[in-house]
Amino acid sequence: LPNGLALTPPMGWNDWNAFGCDVSAQLVEQTADKLVSSGLAADGYRSVNIDDCWMAPNRDAEGNLVPDPVKFPDGIKAVADYVHGKGLKLGIYETAGTKTCAGYPGSLGHETADANLFASWGVDYLKYDNCYNQGVPSKQRYQAMGSALAATGRPIVYSLCSWGTEDVASWGGTVGNLWRTTGDISAGFGSMLDIFHTNVQLAKDAGPGGWNDPDMLEVGNGMSVTEDQTEFTLWAEMAAPLISGTDLRTASPDTLRILGNRDVIAVDQDPLGKQGTGISSSGGLDVLAKPLSDGSVAVVLFNENATAATISTTAAAAGVPSSSNGGYALKDLWTGRTTISGGTISAAVPGHGTVMYRVSPATTRQLPPSTTLLTTLP
Ligand code: GLA
Repeated sequence: LPNGLALTPPMGWNDWNAFGCDVSAQLVEQTADKLVSSGLAADGYRSVNIDDCWMAPNRDAEGNLVPDPVKFPDGIKAVADYVHGKGLKLGIYETAGTKTCAGYPGSLGHETADANLFASWGVDYLKYDNCYNQGVPSKQRYQAMGSALAATGRPIVYSLCSWGTEDVASWGGTVGNLWRTTGDISAGFGSMLDIFHTNVQLAKDAGPGGWNDPDMLEVGNGMSVTEDQTEFTLWAEMAAPLISGTDLRTASPDTLRILGNRDVIAVDQDPLGKQGTGISSSGGLDVLAKPLSDGSVAVVLFNENATAATISTTAAAAGVPSSSNGGYALKDLWTGRTTISGGTISAAVPGHGTVMYRVSPATTRQLPPSTTLLTTLP
């Protein structure tokens, strides 16, 4: 959506995956504190997003939405002020239907009033869900809220939680800043893999201001560390929103290390804004390539199977510009090590694992000392 927002994929946190309806001002504010103290805010995670169940069961006499008085005793504006005071943004949740997915009052037919209320509270991001939609066409319902948000004059990132809308990728970019391409994720390798298979095919529809959304991250919520690292790698390669869905207050060192990998985040946030695509896939062994703004390419070797396997490709197949000295620098974004190759990109990849390289033509300085002109390297 050309509203000047989300020029790179949104980054932040949302309570739903880890807490369901158990959201509160306290949780949101403690998470904001942790985003800052852990360094994740400085890494780019700036939007603290409230999901479903923040409301009281009914609108007030004027027809306005009312925050649950127990979960949000001082209202939403107080939470927005707190979060803004930390240099962060506040997100909220509603639904393009008569009720939210958990049964609270929906925004269908109340778009202008609700958008104005959110803007008056200082909301910076709206996740807009798809339950109880009365069969009204999806695009029409999403456009109605989009117009209402634009009319507030406040910059509000607009996230279409448009699961079940088959063609959303084809029009999502004219209506919102991101759009859900699949049903809900759960914290298991199979769920993550299914979502990856759908979302990876939609690359042509993504770009600055409009992103395919394969749902929030499950890193830290029960997959193995290898699988968590795989999800983060694949989401970054697909230029997906990086919205943590775990309890950051109690997150493990591995969870914080994965979410905080700045080299992988830089692939996700690359200003060229191209979603990575599959360049080969055979027997559950996949190679993906994502062109980056400096001319390098992020190459992912992904092993969908449970047992280790070697996966190989070449710099040429990945679209890396040809090297005048014959050498390519392969920076492994999880170990931080750089190796020099004559063009082959190959690694032993653990079951359910990924290896991610940033590949660029080698500079002369990077070549082995005795070599002036390279033709082939192992
Ligand atoms: C839907 C959405 C989820 C979450 C829940 C809340 O299932 O897809 O991400 O927002 O609703 O009820």
